[in-house]
Amino acid sequence: MIIAVDGPAASGKGTLASGLARHYGLPHLDTGLLYRAVGQAVDGFEDAPDFENRAIAAARKLDEADLQSELLLSARAGQLASKVAVIGEVRQALFDYQRQFALQEGGAVLDGRDIGTVICPEADAKLFIQADSKSRMERRARQLELRGQVVDRYALYHQIEERDARDMANPHGGFYKAADAHLLDTTLLDIEAALRAAIAIVDGAIRRKAGLVP
Ligand code: C5P
Repeated sequence: MIIAVDGPAASGKGTLASGLARHYGLPHLDTGLLYRAVGQAVDGFEDAPDFENRAIAAARKLDEADLQSELLLSARAGQLASKVAVIGEVRQALFDYQRQFALQEGGAVLDGRDIGTVICPEADAKLFIQADSKSRMERRARQLELRGQVVDRYALYHQIEERDARDMANPHGGFYKAADAHLLDTTLLDIEAALRAAIAIVDGAIRRKAGLVP
């Protein structure tokens, strides 16, 4: 079974995807980490004339070990990720990694921006997670504070808005709700309630696939 979980920055998609993975006993890939690792590899070269080529080279030689660094979870890594994510060849280089993960025996849960539209259009269940910008900022601020980072909420709000705008305008992106994805708005839900709602959606999709309900 393949479960695709897409949504904007700090919508709660990562937490929901890992909760779904635990619930259904599936491996989980946070695909944002791939873009963050590529972004991290070109940190400091944003204005260099060979920025794109450096990012493409980093994407082509990315491996599992590059995904472990704590640095990838910073707000800066998120910004860098969305800059390399607009490069078509970077997306192409990361496509195979994500496809292979999705197609492993037994299935997987992947979360990101384009899982239900580009990476796994054939996924058995697709969720599109959304939440209003202010609560997304507040959640991300608390996550960063828990990791000991000092957070400027005003700046963070604008970073999230700027990142969403860049992601949605990405011509290579596929960042939109797939027609067959289920919309889950987590603005007013705590983690447990959101996970219950996500499980209900996936169970419903499985029953429909099995022909048990129309
Ligand atoms: O989800 P996360 O905040 O870690 O993603 C960081 C950035 O990586 C996003 O803002 C987006 O630009 C990019 N991304 C993407 N496609 C994905 C996952 C992430 O373009 N499947």
